[in-house]
Amino acid sequence: MKFFIDTANLQEIEEAQALGILDGVTTNPSLMAREGIKGKENIYKHYKAICQIVDDNVSAEVVATDYEGMINEGLELAEIDQKIVVKVPLIEAGIKAIRYLSDKNIRTNATLVFSPGQALLAAKAGATYVSPFIGRLDDISESGVELIRQILAIYSNYDFDTQVLAASIRHTRHIIDCALAGADVATCPLSAIKGLLKHPLTDIGLEKFLADYRKSQA
Ligand code: G3P
Repeated sequence: MKFFIDTANLQEIEEAQALGILDGVTTNPSLMAREGIKGKENIYKHYKAICQIVDDNVSAEVVATDYEGMINEGLELAEIDQKIVVKVPLIEAGIKAIRYLSDKNIRTNATLVFSPGQALLAAKAGATYVSPFIGRLDDISESGVELIRQILAIYSNYDFDTQVLAASIRHTRHIIDCALAGADVATCPLSAIKGLLKHPLTDIGLEKFLADYRKSQA
């Protein structure tokens, strides 16, 4: 399972990279805005800065919603760095843009996916990744993890290469549920990744080991 971090915050990306378990980064216009990055030039510079921290897989999202605009923006984003994966919303123009970019060997991430049918189209169009938003489905009392299972079943039926990237992960339990379902990738907030470290028995056990060591050395 690949781990991506879902943020545009450079310190958080550096911290996750330093753990040695990070495979990539996902961003979106809301996450860029949260960091106060304004204007195309600054946004592109920020993507470059992210690419300098991680080894690969930096999802950069187009903001155009028409086919021509999406492919032009996708080509520009792909020029920033070889690590860029062009993130495209799953709308009609988006499917066409994914087909176009994928035919040009540019990696794509189909985003804002909420149904198995949307995921099927993303795979048919040749998307590298498909991003079902599991937290937002849970928010409306649907099951995000069930959607992950359905997409994995469909992709397995037809041997699609598109990787299932569980997105809109809100907490550590989501990561475990996605891993149990077999998601190829989880993109997570840093807090959810760090939550995987935590167990009270680890802390209690370590305290006891160290106390016994200190006693034996006295
Ligand atoms: O990866 C998609 C993510 O950024 C959306 O998360 O928490 O806004 O639903 P959220």
